[in-house]
Amino acid sequence: MSYTFKGVSPSPELLRDTAFIAGDWVSAADGRTFAVTDPSCGEIIRHVPDLSREDTRKAIDAAHAAQKLWADETAETRADVLRRFHDLVMKHQEDLARILTAEMGKPLQEARGEITYGASYLLWFAEEARRVYGDTIPAHRKDARIMVLRQPVGVVAAITPWNFPSAMPCRKFAPALAAGCAVVFKPAMETPLSALALAALGERAGLPRGVLSVITTSDSRAFGAEVCENPLVSKLTFTGSTQVGRLLMAQAAPKIMKLSMELGGNAPFIVFDDADVDAAVDGCIQSKFRNNGQTCVCTNRIYVQDGVHDVFVEKLTEAVARLNVGSGMDPRTDLGPLISEAACDKFETHIADAVEKGARILTGAPTRLPQGTFVQPTVLSGLSSDMLVATEETFAPLAPVFRFSDEDEVVRMANDTEFGLASYFYANNLNRVWRVAERLAFGMVGVNTGLISTAVAPFGGIKQSGFGKEGSKYGLDDFLTMKYVCLGGIA
Ligand code: SIN
Repeated sequence: MSYTFKGVSPSPELLRDTAFIAGDWVSAADGRTFAVTDPSCGEIIRHVPDLSREDTRKAIDAAHAAQKLWADETAETRADVLRRFHDLVMKHQEDLARILTAEMGKPLQEARGEITYGASYLLWFAEEARRVYGDTIPAHRKDARIMVLRQPVGVVAAITPWNFPSAMPCRKFAPALAAGCAVVFKPAMETPLSALALAALGERAGLPRGVLSVITTSDSRAFGAEVCENPLVSKLTFTGSTQVGRLLMAQAAPKIMKLSMELGGNAPFIVFDDADVDAAVDGCIQSKFRNNGQTCVCTNRIYVQDGVHDVFVEKLTEAVARLNVGSGMDPRTDLGPLISEAACDKFETHIADAVEKGARILTGAPTRLPQGTFVQPTVLSGLSSDMLVATEETFAPLAPVFRFSDEDEVVRMANDTEFGLASYFYANNLNRVWRVAERLAFGMVGVNTGLISTAVAPFGGIKQSGFGKEGSKYGLDDFLTMKYVCLGGIA
């Protein structure tokens, strides 16, 4: 029986079972495919082509030819295409959200939000495309004039994970296309359908052939090796684990390629005695349970100061106990399934390790639900720094609460990680707000808010969470090179 989408099926124009190379919708030359499944029930949604390294090479050749023409277009032309792309994404929001929920599991309402979020990058960079300004610099000699040009890097390879199947590709396509680059893109194996739907809309928006290709493949290594070694690829933008980021950096090293790496996190969430506790509980629910705990910026460690510890824990536990777990297609659902069995295993291992070392379960369950990859959102108290949850990203709905006494101690504990992506704290004392925001060693700090992601701000980490910024007025820099031109002999 074919997959039903529990109601309204998305338009066939968007629900693809072919990949997109050089402007053509293609199958694998040898006919191989892989299945895309709904994690809430394990049913197969579609099969998509399992493309080879040779296919990636074809896409790169086409991108190389198309990029020069795309870069020669006026900024206005590129902006117009990106704006049309944005408008089409928003017009088809419901279909895109259904595809996303089917392949990834997040609740439909959250999926609709992700479509809007992804589209906001298309719009933002449509506007930024017109502002790729150069510079003039007072010269060092009377006969010279100095200019700075900003030019597209060339062909960009992009790799994204499964947790934001639509927003993450948009976040990479938009600045690259605005800058005048061409993109060869590999979506996660779990979630290629959202990316193919986006490609169909990009094609309809007027992207020239070859400017965007989507390679569906189960062989991530072959794709990574080809884009890192192929001399026609000038840049790789990657979102995923630190482990894979490290491998790609090593593979790219001989070619000295421009890179941006958005890698793992281990976000602290600190509640000080002077915080508004109810607001802190709301912020914690948002930052911990967004996408069922499966975002790189999700809170991983919660630190609460002595004076508000007990009341915060009580209110957080009540709020978490009210969250509904179920299929993302059910409007009552707050938290969908986890993406895989392996994700459930990690959740269970982190709980078992903490409990063995003395933590208490305040709500939730130490094991998964009997069917599918569903787990109960869980709150733990009585945590210590020797537990796995202190050092590893759980990437699941587990809220471990640590107790602390003073500011220096908590800043030290929060910074005691090799990661440096997002961090959060709640406090009202203005001096403390400045002090702590400056001392937290993370690329992003949310103060009195649990939601920091937006197209207008620079998203990115430090330390082993990577480098490069996505979104904001800085987001184009990663896709541009700066060229200095010295004009001499001026009489
Ligand atoms: C991520 O999980 O890497 C991205 C989350 C976001 O855009 O907020």
